[in-house]
Amino acid sequence: MCGGAGFIGSNFVRIRVREEADEVVVLDKLTYAGRRENLADLPEVSLVVGDIADQAAVDEAIGDGVDAIVNFAAETHVDRSIAQPDAFVTTNGQGTYQLLEGARRHQVARYVQISTDEVYGSIEEGSFTEESPIVPSSPYSASKAGADLLVQSYFHTYGLEALICRGSNNYGPYQYPEKLIPLMVLNALHGDPLPVYGDGMQVRNWLYVEDFGRGIGHALAHGHAGEVYNVGGPDEAPNIEVVKRIVELTGADESIIEYVTDRPGHDRRYSLGSEKIRALGWEARVHFAEGLEKTVNWYRENTDWWEPVRSGDYREYYERQYGRKLG
Ligand code: NAD
Ligand code: DAU
Repeated sequence: MCGGAGFIGSNFVRIRVREEADEVVVLDKLTYAGRRENLADLPEVSLVVGDIADQAAVDEAIGDGVDAIVNFAAETHVDRSIAQPDAFVTTNGQGTYQLLEGARRHQVARYVQISTDEVYGSIEEGSFTEESPIVPSSPYSASKAGADLLVQSYFHTYGLEALICRGSNNYGPYQYPEKLIPLMVLNALHGDPLPVYGDGMQVRNWLYVEDFGRGIGHALAHGHAGEVYNVGGPDEAPNIEVVKRIVELTGADESIIEYVTDRPGHDRRYSLGSEKIRALGWEARVHFAEGLEKTVNWYRENTDWWEPVRSGDYREYYERQYGRKLG
């Protein structure tokens, strides 16, 4: 598994080890978003620290052979891709290529690429299906779309048993606080301003991270090679509603909400139709109201996890991105 020390990857590994008793090797570069601490409660997992874009690291992680590669490793934050796209092209493009080549070299039986609803662009009404055109807006989503097309080419050209899972916006424990929900929760707990981009009416389709993990598990076990499976959350909400709910759950004061300059090329709405993965037996279990409360409680209770993050490089990133210091 690649990128297993990040947010979704570490939650997926936890499900696989605890519920499926899988033996898992994680290949992860441990960028700012990848942390050993995310796997600290799973000592049985082997961690190979290395870059998916490096053939030698891929060979080392595959070792004597693996049954499947699930690729979560990526540069994932849209705002960072707007400021500095290069790592997105390298990791998401070249990295995916090296993994596909590794899968071919070692005759790995199954390959699952973790992708995103952002490859479809923005949709005003209705929901994307797997047949919707690929119209990415940001360097992040363009690099993910390119990776998806490469994965499909390896199925068509070389017969690699590869498939793609496209998830909607995930939230839950272990998410790095550059993303909307953990950023707002930690700022609210500290009384820092809550920076809402533009008018705050952009809509996201929220998916609890364990639901995504189980959807990926379904696709891994029952999905058909060459296919794409959308895995969308059960609820949609405009950003400003999410932020106001976080204010309530943390007991903060609504006056700390601040409207700031919008993100360039900001997609207005995402919505994923998930009928195809449902037909494989998957269903989201956690509604947004319940999942958000669980998530706020997790951040409240796990100060040891986020205090080192919030006091490190993140502060410099925050100042560059928001033009003000934290705290
Ligand atoms: P994350 O940023 O929390 O973690 C990414 C992980 O990849 C980190 O552990 C990092 O160290 C690792 N990584 C980065 N570059 C690497 C490289 N070159 N070699 C090896 N490891 C590397 O990301 P996330 O939010 O957990 O997302 C995981 C995957 O799911 C990504 O592919 C992302 O595009 C996709 N996705 C994310 C969401 C979301 O809402 N977060 C939704 C749908 C799909
Ligand atoms: O949809 C899936 C995608 O969701 C994943 O592929 C990406 O990896 C992941 O980062 C996420 O992308 P978004 O851009 O939707 O997530 P982000 O948390 O950055 O922003 C969510 C919304 O909140 C978006 O409309 C921008 C807005 N926002 C975000 C931040 C960080 C704000 O208004 N203020 C902020 O400070």
